[in-house]
Amino acid sequence: MNPFVFHTPTRVYFGEDSASSCGDFLRELGGKKVLMVADAFLEKSGALKPLIESIRESTGSAPILFTDVPSDSDIDCVNNATAIARTHQCDAFVAVGGGSVIDTAKVINICLSFGGEVMDYQGLNIIERKLYPLIAVPTTAGTGAEVSFVAMVKDHGEGKKLMFGSRFLAPDVAILDPLMIVSLPAKLTAATGIDAITHDIECYVASGTYSVFTDAICLESLRLLFEFLPQATVDGGNIEARGATLVASCMAGVAFTNSGVGITHALAHAVGAKYATHHGMTNAVFLPHGMRFNLDTVYPRYARIAQFLGFADEENNGDELALANLLVNKVEALLEKLQLPLTLRELGVPEFSDENLAELTDLAAADPAIMFNPREASSDDLTQLLKRAY
Ligand SMILES: NC(=O)c1ccc[n+]([C@@H]2O[C@H](COP(=O)([O-])OP(=O)(O)OC[C@H]3O[C@@H](n4cnc5c(N)ncnc54)[C@H](O)[C@@H]3O)[C@@H](O)[C@H]2O)c1
Ligand SMILES: [Fe+2]
Repeated sequence: MNPFVFHTPTRVYFGEDSASSCGDFLRELGGKKVLMVADAFLEKSGALKPLIESIRESTGSAPILFTDVPSDSDIDCVNNATAIARTHQCDAFVAVGGGSVIDTAKVINICLSFGGEVMDYQGLNIIERKLYPLIAVPTTAGTGAEVSFVAMVKDHGEGKKLMFGSRFLAPDVAILDPLMIVSLPAKLTAATGIDAITHDIECYVASGTYSVFTDAICLESLRLLFEFLPQATVDGGNIEARGATLVASCMAGVAFTNSGVGITHALAHAVGAKYATHHGMTNAVFLPHGMRFNLDTVYPRYARIAQFLGFADEENNGDELALANLLVNKVEALLEKLQLPLTLRELGVPEFSDENLAELTDLAAADPAIMFNPREASSDDLTQLLKRAY
């Protein structure tokens, strides 16, 4: 067995209507003035009201509400919210939204806890102390940001995503409430679910960093996602399916934050940074290509996934290469069933010039996710994958 470290500091609460107990968790964690960073759609829909009421009851005052978070959050948004939080001397944070909202709240919390500017803290393990309390209520089932040690926000000036990584960035509490995700439209349900599937698959084969803990988590998370993601997509009000995908994506978050992701994420981060494509949808385009690129190196591990998911039959049982290929085919079939874009062209990415290709290749090669890919990728490999995905 490889040496490994496994660590998951976030307390996870799951249950229908659990978000309206948000104030109880805050009472325990401390913090008198709360900044609630939330998705604008949820504010308009009234979904935040029970949470606001619960926070008012526990802290004695309503939270300061910040909802101006774009779907690919950026430094300007963080700076605006930080200024508001400083004015109100906020000392606790509640994030209610998708990965963009949760990551934004994490970075605001860094600035409030330690002072200074966003850029002072960019990079890995710059933060070495505990931050103010943060409760995350995910309203998409995909990123795992509610338990992960990272936050990504965009620097539009530089046209790239900035990464903040430290175990202290993991929220103190993650509240998984299926009622908070029922309003997510079908396409985003599918795309965010594929983000979680990508976390599981990439983590399961991550270069020397996976462990028996992450193996177990990834397999069960994949089982839930393959079974329930199609249902959650076609029937958004199906609470059982919504709950299963929410739990599964959180599990995938626990796994990948310990063991890493890989080449699919490196390529998706590059394209997302340059063309503002949605993270999950971009992963969906690259996932079959990334899996095929790694197949010769990790096919026994892919075969184990296929076996666990019950894809083996009399014809392929015991044939690891056949099972590994079958897993890639099943992933492609799922993408088609979910009606996700299968190419970058369909995603709206303009045709690449040589210059664009070179830039994207460099971005992907420099992305931290590539470090954990089981097969080394040259610049030429990355360029070929970008072309193939177009
Ligand atoms: N921190 C991490 O570990 C991590 C991991 C993967 C991705 N990310 C980041 O997360 C971001 C993507 O997050 P995402 O995929 O959750 O999407 P998102 O947060 O960008 O949200 C996508 C869209 O869904 C809407 N939405 C969210 N919840 C809704 C709901 N319940 N009902 C209706 N609409 C809703 C939002 O308004 C937005 O328009 C990217 O910036 C990516 O870099 C972070
Ligand atoms: Fe992701």
